[in-house]
Amino acid sequence: MNPLNLAQASLFRNSNFYSGQWKDFSNTISVQDPSNGKEIGAIPDLTAEEVRSAIQFAEKAQKTWSKTLPKERAKYLRNWANLMLQNREDLAKIMTLEQGKPLSESRGEIDYAASYLEWFAEEAKRTYGDIIPTHRKELRLLSWKEPIGVTGILTPWNFPSSMITRKVGPALAAGCVVISKPSELTPYSAIALAVLAQEAGLPPGVFQVVTGRPEVIADEFLDNPSVKKISFTGSTRVGKILLERSAKQIKRISLELGGNAPFIVFADANLQEAVKGAIASKFRNTGQTCVCANRFLVEEKIADEFASKLSEEVSKFKVGNGFEEGVNQGPLIHSASLHKVDSHVKDALQKGGRLWVGGKSHSLGGNFYEPTVISNVSETSICFQEETFGPLAPIRSFKTEEEALQIANATSVGLASYLYTNEPARIWRMTESIEAGMVAVNEGILSTEQVPFGGVKESGIGREGSKYGIEAYQEIKYICWGGQV
Ligand code: SIN
Repeated sequence: MNPLNLAQASLFRNSNFYSGQWKDFSNTISVQDPSNGKEIGAIPDLTAEEVRSAIQFAEKAQKTWSKTLPKERAKYLRNWANLMLQNREDLAKIMTLEQGKPLSESRGEIDYAASYLEWFAEEAKRTYGDIIPTHRKELRLLSWKEPIGVTGILTPWNFPSSMITRKVGPALAAGCVVISKPSELTPYSAIALAVLAQEAGLPPGVFQVVTGRPEVIADEFLDNPSVKKISFTGSTRVGKILLERSAKQIKRISLELGGNAPFIVFADANLQEAVKGAIASKFRNTGQTCVCANRFLVEEKIADEFASKLSEEVSKFKVGNGFEEGVNQGPLIHSASLHKVDSHVKDALQKGGRLWVGGKSHSLGGNFYEPTVISNVSETSICFQEETFGPLAPIRSFKTEEEALQIANATSVGLASYLYTNEPARIWRMTESIEAGMVAVNEGILSTEQVPFGGVKESGIGREGSKYGIEAYQEIKYICWGGQV
């Protein structure tokens, strides 16, 4: 089957790579193209026993992988990254087919995904320990880092490739083997990664992909004592369940959860740049990113001008199938997502919002929604309380810096935030006071592999990427050495 005319047809598979081989199953889950609802394939729906056998296999692989030299692990990761880039066009096509994002965004995501493998190939070699000044003459004190062990990762559908490599890169670099459970909505990008992992020469069991129902696989990851670490990207609701359940075995857990990002624009900002940043932050991936601007707070004197300029740009968007030339807004992932966006829009309008552009399902039908701008949005609107995860830009005006800050921080989550101003003292005050793990100043895109990505409050635990990302997969061992001096 080669529905996409892939240069390497074997990248698109309906099977799972685990226990050292490709396996097909009679129990399957159907996967649809979000742009037209048509089935694109059916992936294995694994049972708990089958997941267990992948974990057993991983346990064996862990013993040898943890003993490989960092340089060897780096070589595998680099090979894998290079293969991703060599197969970029095929991987991007698979992603657009299953996720819906425009092909240009998929290409960008493949580069972004490969960058995590490449980055952690380097970091593998820099996991230093310490020689610690001793407190007794006859003792020597030191510490080093060890891999935590078999790691189960659970990743979402919005970034089907990069959310996997952002976890697998540091895990493998640290010496942990990985079992990856991709979203059942976008499994093919993960399966293609497994094909390339095999081509890159990764030993069997070091990277396995298991597909199926999230509750079956997550239960096994949580209950099986051989899984030492879980890393999850997804909703705060599910993150809380995983955190609670991992307490039973004090399982190590990293959580990258939802946000409710404020995008604050002061009157002294460069308005054109702010609009450009707003579009990048809000509408990338049709508004389906955890770091998407969710609440626009604009200083009162420029609020209408901002809304007008933003709407002018938004009305130029081409909505459609991600494979079509010129399309920059794809469909939402499924109809439930579309209904959520629509309910947020209706609620904002009912509570006094002013509609500038969009506001309804797109004439293309299906999962397509019109990119929407609403101003005069009440703080009590649902879209100000919750992540919309769709193409709605709700704007509320403010009068003072204190008011902007108060609204920005009035949320239980704190992942990304955005600030547009040209006053240096205000930049300091605001960046120090915003309750978020990440602040972008006069810029709409903050993600890149070399920075610590993560949130405060209910947006998660831990950081991914950067020099810190590998620590999530390591334990520190302390050695107190006596009797030699
Ligand atoms: C996310 O939405 O969780 C990831 C977004 C990004 O890495 O930019």
